[in-house]
Amino acid sequence: MEKKEVSNELQELLQTLEQQTNWDGLPLVKYDAFWLPDIALRPILSAQKYFKAKDSDIILASIPKSGTTWLKALVFSIANRNVISIDQSPLLTSNPHTVVPYLEFNLYSYQENPNLQDLPSPRIFATHMPFKMLPDSIRESECKIIYVCRNPLDQFVSHRHFWLENKIEKVAVPLDIDAAFDLFCQGIHHFGPLWDHTLGYWNAGLKNPQKVLFLRYEDLKEDITPHVKKIAEFIGSPFSPEEEKQGVVDQISRLCSIENLRNLEVNKNGYILDVLKNSSFFRKGEVGDWINHLTPAMAERVKDLMASKFDGSGLTFKI
Ligand code: A3P
Repeated sequence: MEKKEVSNELQELLQTLEQQTNWDGLPLVKYDAFWLPDIALRPILSAQKYFKAKDSDIILASIPKSGTTWLKALVFSIANRNVISIDQSPLLTSNPHTVVPYLEFNLYSYQENPNLQDLPSPRIFATHMPFKMLPDSIRESECKIIYVCRNPLDQFVSHRHFWLENKIEKVAVPLDIDAAFDLFCQGIHHFGPLWDHTLGYWNAGLKNPQKVLFLRYEDLKEDITPHVKKIAEFIGSPFSPEEEKQGVVDQISRLCSIENLRNLEVNKNGYILDVLKNSSFFRKGEVGDWINHLTPAMAERVKDLMASKFDGSGLTFKI
């Protein structure tokens, strides 16, 4: 019954929405001013309709290829450190995306209205939804949101490698990098425009810093230690002096490092959602890799776009 209602709504809605094809051939649909992979629309509508946030929930938000995998590993480890010892961590045997599910690609994709009530607290969920698209109860409850973003040039390059590696639309011929970059600059990519996605969480964090923690991938790379502590404080579970003395912060940082995760057997083989290679989530993990793939003119175009889109917001990226 519920499923039928959403299907009818979806059918009607789809007829009113603009559609596009991503550079890799994946269909995109424009909903609420953002370009969504079409497979995400129905689960997002379901999550908006049914998801009930608890005050103890932690929501990890990002645009794809901004450090989501890292954030999932870190927050899971920090939040569960008193329940699961580091040498027993599920991250040693499961990919971070298996440990922390997405609302739209896992939970509400498999079922219209999954029963999430009995999951142990704190429940940790991830999403690529823009801030304004989040289920109301996420914004209205006391739950915490942690957003990670990344400089747009590295995000674009990372995204391109990821989808060339995990070619889903087997028959589609991917557009060349110039055409793909042009679409990116127009905001036509998964969960784009990136500027609006990032600004949504940036502004929410400025308005309510207790609610939204805004992180940059580059800052995490520069020094992970203060960020592990910051995340712990933000979720209301600061490290005790004893824990610091025992080196728990360093243990978590090491566990979640790309060097450690990419060398685990589980992340060398196998697939997420049957189609995404576990290994493809751990490519270089560097800041500034764009320089090996994009021209100075492309970088200038993004700098100009950022200058106009972020004007007056206080949001900046080092390029
Ligand atoms: P690159 O493609 O530039 O290497 P997401 O997790 O949002 O899908 O983002 C993937 C990007 O984060 C990839 O960037 C990947 O290598 C990097 N990454 C994954 N795990 C990481 C970790 N533990 N530490 C740092 N970077 C990581």
